[in-house]
Amino acid sequence: MTIETDHDLQQLKHIGQIVAQCLKEMKRLAEPGMSTLELDAVGADFLERHGAKSAPKITYDFPGSTCISINEQAAHGVPGPRTLRAGDMVNVDVSAEKNGYFADTGGSFLIPPIDQKKQRLILATKLALKEAIGVARAGQRINMIGLAIQRVAQKKGYRIIKNLCSHGIGRSLHEEPKEIPGFYDPQDNRKLWEGAVITIEPFLSTRSEAVTEDTDGWTLIAEPGNLSAQFEHTMVITRGKPILLTQAA
Ligand code: CO
Ligand code: CO
Repeated sequence: MTIETDHDLQQLKHIGQIVAQCLKEMKRLAEPGMSTLELDAVGADFLERHGAKSAPKITYDFPGSTCISINEQAAHGVPGPRTLRAGDMVNVDVSAEKNGYFADTGGSFLIPPIDQKKQRLILATKLALKEAIGVARAGQRINMIGLAIQRVAQKKGYRIIKNLCSHGIGRSLHEEPKEIPGFYDPQDNRKLWEGAVITIEPFLSTRSEAVTEDTDGWTLIAEPGNLSAQFEHTMVITRGKPILLTQAA
């Protein structure tokens, strides 16, 4: 969507803060032995208490309130009996709707003990998001987002999962501009505009450049042994720095 009124901005900030705090709470309570279903229940409770509805649930009939993906699972992991184990790379993605407005956030973290090699991937992905946010402004070519992510991945020695994209958001979970690549696409002539509401969500990985759908019909998995990390913010594009809607206050 494109922001037209202050009401739009205030509503987006409100749902942005809800998903940000929900992610923070889930991350805080994640511990070894907990099933992803139990962790999802933390998120489901949080959203309900704040009057928000899970976006994947209401949009795609996703069988869970949040997406929880572990290790070789890169995204859209379905909450279930799988338990969190020491050393696991966990990604939680929270998107929700309230009063007709949507926001989307996500982040990867490790279940202690912290392996420095895995932590490096997390830090590189965080940096990729920061660099991409740094080039996102009105009038800028959309492919500069992918270029910024690609530069960080190359410099740090990681690959990019190319079939997972950032996207427009606001009045629904996925809207124009659709499929903002996480790599440089020279053919992409689209530009960002003032007031556009988008996510940026780089996926860096150790080995795989693509994910495929698991037999559950939802979970997107990479090659065995692959690790990936993702960080995601929803933001409003301006002529200067974007307004981040999902930074936990
Ligand atoms: Co997301
Ligand atoms: Co998203």
